[in-house]
Amino acid sequence: LGTSVVTVVATDADDPTYGNSARLVYSILQGLPHFYVDPKTGVVRTALPDMDRETQDRYQLIIQAKDMMGQMGGLSGTTMVTVTLTDVNDNPPRFPRRSYQFTVPELVSVWSVVARVKAVDLDLGPNAEVVYRMVDGDGLGTFQIQTDPNTQEGLITLLKDLNFELKASYTLKIEASNRHVDTRFLLVGPFSDVTMVRLEVADQDEPPVFSTSVSQVLVSEGVPVGTRVASVSAHDPDGANSPIRYLIDQNSDIGRFFDIDGSSGTITTSRYLDRETRVLHNITVIGSEIRDPSQVSSAVVLISVTDVNDNPPRFASEYWTSVCEHVQPGQVIETLSAVDPDDPEDGHHFLFFLNQETALNSSFTLRDNRDNTASVLTSWSSFLRRDRPVHLLPVVIADSGSPSLSSTNTLTITVCDCDLHGNHHLCSEEDPWRGGVGSPAVILITVLTFLGVSLLAAVLRSRRRVPQMMEEEQDIQENIVCYDDEGGGEEDTRAFDMVALRHSNQMNLTSGTAEPESVTQKTRLLQAFISERLQEADLDPSAPFIDTLQTYALEGSSSAAQSLSSLCSLDSSESEQNFAFLKAWGPRFQKLTELYGHRVGGGVAS
Ligand SMILES: *[C@@H]1O[C@H](CO)[C@@H](O)[C@H](O)[C@H]1NC(C)=O
Ligand SMILES: *[C@@H]1O[C@H](CO)[C@@H](O)[C@H](O)[C@H]1NC(C)=O
Repeated sequence: LGTSVVTVVATDADDPTYGNSARLVYSILQGLPHFYVDPKTGVVRTALPDMDRETQDRYQLIIQAKDMMGQMGGLSGTTMVTVTLTDVNDNPPRFPRRSYQFTVPELVSVWSVVARVKAVDLDLGPNAEVVYRMVDGDGLGTFQIQTDPNTQEGLITLLKDLNFELKASYTLKIEASNRHVDTRFLLVGPFSDVTMVRLEVADQDEPPVFSTSVSQVLVSEGVPVGTRVASVSAHDPDGANSPIRYLIDQNSDIGRFFDIDGSSGTITTSRYLDRETRVLHNITVIGSEIRDPSQVSSAVVLISVTDVNDNPPRFASEYWTSVCEHVQPGQVIETLSAVDPDDPEDGHHFLFFLNQETALNSSFTLRDNRDNTASVLTSWSSFLRRDRPVHLLPVVIADSGSPSLSSTNTLTITVCDCDLHGNHHLCSEEDPWRGGVGSPAVILITVLTFLGVSLLAAVLRSRRRVPQMMEEEQDIQENIVCYDDEGGGEEDTRAFDMVALRHSNQMNLTSGTAEPESVTQKTRLLQAFISERLQEADLDPSAPFIDTLQTYALEGSSSAAQSLSSLCSLDSSESEQNFAFLKAWGPRFQKLTELYGHRVGGGVAS
């Protein structure tokens, strides 16, 4: 009361020293009773103690200044003053109602807003900011309340899932207060308000609930088909309590390894499980309410397959082993390792050995290095490619499982011709694929080999056109014409001129008793010549060690045959002369016209 609001000042142009013509008096024409003005100073003050902004926040004052001391006949002027009241927090928030009731669906999700309440505060701005608090009730852990900063509403949100079957309603006692409190007004009374909020949970049909959403079981591989491995159970949470039907989501059980009993939820194997194929089966079981099949939910069953020793170890790779022909005994020529698809808990322990029969009679020994590898050593040094180009060594590998499994793996060892440094020069069975099929190098080598082979074939083909014969043979072939025609005998006079032939035949057969002198003489000459040549040939150290046919020709004069030659077989066998060994000694004579084959002692000319 009496707080100065403003000071108004008026001026008068008249002479202040002359009379009252410039002596002013202030008065308020409009604005009573809330304000008054000091008549002399013009100070405007509040005139009522409890002005309320919430009732009226604006006042229009009209102030008058009058000269002549405010007497009649004085001149006056007015001014207008607008007074605006500022807010103080003199109003607590107030709930319009003592209680509220809301319905909340059972399946509403956590953190969603289920109800809004608003306490009204007449003040302005920060003075009207409301804080809500849950002070009592049975929904303290289930709900919480916060202020919406834009609307100053209290938002009730859900903290955890509701379950109609367990609790159908909640009561909350909510208090609203100001965030900024003016302590002057706290004494007046409680500067807050409370209300009761009742939340009714509305029942909804719910899907089945599994006792565990993820269960984990261990099953040994290779258990018989139909073995029970796990069991699931679910129930209908609603009052209806419908029975549940179970099935396996076929997308989760690729290969259909498992069956489920639709009513009991027992999972059994429908096939043999193989850990080496699949270690973990992640099965989704779907449960649906029989009375309302649209109500479904699912659970995950993780079935881990545990190992059983059901695979024998075998060579870790395909080995291409070679050994030099004159290798020292005790040389390591290969180090073998093994693999086993099984997965024993304490790791693999392989045993390498040769079976007894092999161990007693083998060119190689095997040394188990006790680190899952074994070395192959030579046990003697006489490997000969010629005798045995490839050795096969059956190696037995056993694992440490119980019972232990083993397999026999055959190591192929190729014998190679090596130089002094042990570099392989020539191996018995060079494998073009050595180094692994499909590697770029191998493909390149293959292409090059193919090109090389084609080229070689082309060269050989062009070469083959030249007969592959010795030059001497060539001469013979070109010069000798062979007649090997027996003809029709003595009577066949048309085929041969028997006269020409009879001479020489009879000479041989009868030693020329009834023949003319000249013929006998010639025959003797010939026989002498032949025996001379025969002797020469027998003594010739450069003559081939095989029997040879030597050919001579004699150019006679008065013979009916004009030219005579004799083919003398030194071969005691009756077989025809092998052409390949035929050696022509023709160059001694100037010209060969015809050669007649002549068997010594034979009766037939050919
Ligand atoms: C099993 O399958 C479910 C659904 O496909 C997936 O969410 C989960 O991560 C899987 N679990 C494992 C251990 O693979
Ligand atoms: C020993 O090996 C050789 C060559 O493989 C074979 O000929 C011989 O019969 C074997 N001996 C025994 C007793 O197995």
